[in-house]
Amino acid sequence: MIKWISLSDFWKAILVGVGIMLVLWLVVSLFVMRKAEAIVWETGAHTASRNAIIIYNPDPFYNLDEQVCKAFATTLSNSNWYAQVLTVKAIEESNLAQADLIVFCTNTYNWAPDTATMDFLKTQNLDGMKCVALTLGMGTTDRAQRILEETIESRGGELLGSKAYWLGKPNAEPGVVAPNVHIAKLLVAEFADEILKSF
Ligand SMILES: Cc1cc2nc3c(=O)[nH]c(=O)nc-3n(C[C@H](O)[C@H](O)[C@H](O)COP(=O)(O)O)c2cc1C
Repeated sequence: MIKWISLSDFWKAILVGVGIMLVLWLVVSLFVMRKAEAIVWETGAHTASRNAIIIYNPDPFYNLDEQVCKAFATTLSNSNWYAQVLTVKAIEESNLAQADLIVFCTNTYNWAPDTATMDFLKTQNLDGMKCVALTLGMGTTDRAQRILEETIESRGGELLGSKAYWLGKPNAEPGVVAPNVHIAKLLVAEFADEILKSF
């Protein structure tokens, strides 16, 4: 026999459903924001007169962060720089003070920059150091980008530029037909070329 659920049962079911979704969201958020493994990637000659350090904390689901950081680094090395792309875990032993340029690349989680990168950034003295901010996300990155920029400046860094690139929201003007990640890499290479003019 079909038994109609009462209104209060209905609201209980809604509350339980929302609660389960919030717990799942929290678990996924903690998972993506964990400090990922130490990875070191480099390009250009060690003997180059200028060097850059590019820092990110890898997202476990997709590697837009890695691709964007490597595209930035490759553009620098094409102009005779030595560039290292390091995860937050790999950078901890290194000395930022030797770098001519430091690039902080964060993923956006819940409208904020990822905590691993930010926790590291907040411990750094960047007095007078030239920095660049890269903010990645599905498409809602404004707040995270602003927080990243403000934090770099509050640590004493000289912010040469800041850009956001997206996995979901189109990176290009309407009408440009190319994969979104491909466009992000082209745009970050153009941005790196612009940054080079500051040296
Ligand atoms: C729990 C969670 C929260 C997220 N919150 C945001 C957000 O607020 N804004 C946004 O643009 N992207 C958000 N994203 C998407 C990630 O930023 C995106 O997956 C990542 O930056 C993609 O780049 P990647 O290839 O470097 O991982 C979120 C992703 C997860 C898993």
